[in-house]
Amino acid sequence: MIERSELTASLGAGFPRVRGRRLRATASLRRMVRETRLAPDQLVLPLFVVEGRGVRQPLEALPGHFRLSPDLAAQAAARAHRAGVAAVLVFGVPDEKDELGSGAWDPDGAAQVGVRAIKDAAPDLVAITDVCLCAYTDHGHCGVVVDGRVHNDRSLELLARTAVSHAEAGADLVAPSDMMDGRVGAVRAALDAEGREDVGLLSYAAKYASALYGPFREAAGSAPGFGDRRGYQMDPPNAREAVREALLDVDEGADMVMVKPAATYLDVIARVRAATSLPLAAYHVSGECAMLAAAAERGWLDERAAALETLVAIRRAGADIVISYYAERAAAWLAGT
Ligand code: PBG
Ligand code: ZN
Repeated sequence: MIERSELTASLGAGFPRVRGRRLRATASLRRMVRETRLAPDQLVLPLFVVEGRGVRQPLEALPGHFRLSPDLAAQAAARAHRAGVAAVLVFGVPDEKDELGSGAWDPDGAAQVGVRAIKDAAPDLVAITDVCLCAYTDHGHCGVVVDGRVHNDRSLELLARTAVSHAEAGADLVAPSDMMDGRVGAVRAALDAEGREDVGLLSYAAKYASALYGPFREAAGSAPGFGDRRGYQMDPPNAREAVREALLDVDEGADMVMVKPAATYLDVIARVRAATSLPLAAYHVSGECAMLAAAAERGWLDERAAALETLVAIRRAGADIVISYYAERAAAWLAGT
């Protein structure tokens, strides 16, 4: 075995000449050479909005998050805005469900009333709405069910109608999350036909049939009543397909595209980043957040450090915008408060 001193001697005096540690020595040097920045104005906070007034129902698997009625959702949005968060992503949770999910395009639905209240309370905060039917259908699927299957083309008109109702309520961006083929084009055409060409479209382009949506489905009451979503959401082993989905949505008129989940799909984020110049969002989903929160609660992780490391990893992979249940807390952490 060769001795260490012998090895260094054989390599000559002054070895190692390249010393990566030089630029890691102090906090100011590390800050100066930092390749990826995470800032509050890249973060989006999801909000669950229910009907009524003064309603605040805690979500067990998402500590610190609630189902809120529009009045309280507006307060939460204004607080997030003050913390520097870029946007909220609004999910409507209705009292009543039916076969077609007709509550989704109700002008007096929780999402629509919520968006109006949020834009009143915080006009400069970007309001994004999730466009889907699963929280509104009695079977819990994201589209119309015909003969036990989710019918693609019949779902498009209902999704488009839902998006228009969100635009009319004041949404800046609508975000279809249903994974029907052609829905970006259908939503874009419907918005334009209604004179809403100023409303942008953030497409959940590469949305996987993930096991990490559990806490969300409980919050939104949107778990499928039969079967699962594998017939429309993407198969987790596929990455090339994500690029194809993203490019199709770009072609159909998306203004931004999304990869979801995020922390477990960093390779997919990187691939989509390389394939399009559009702004790219990534959704750090409920299960990803719940894992961190649960471990932290047991004292197994430092929540602040683990959450910020995760969010910066999503940015490093190539996401411009990160949607996360940690958005508001991360904004506060980043501001040093
Ligand atoms: C609805 C929708 C889901 C999520 C966002 N929009 C759930 C699903 O597809 O079942 C998941 C978000 C999360 O887990 O945080 N289509
Ligand atoms: Zn859905």
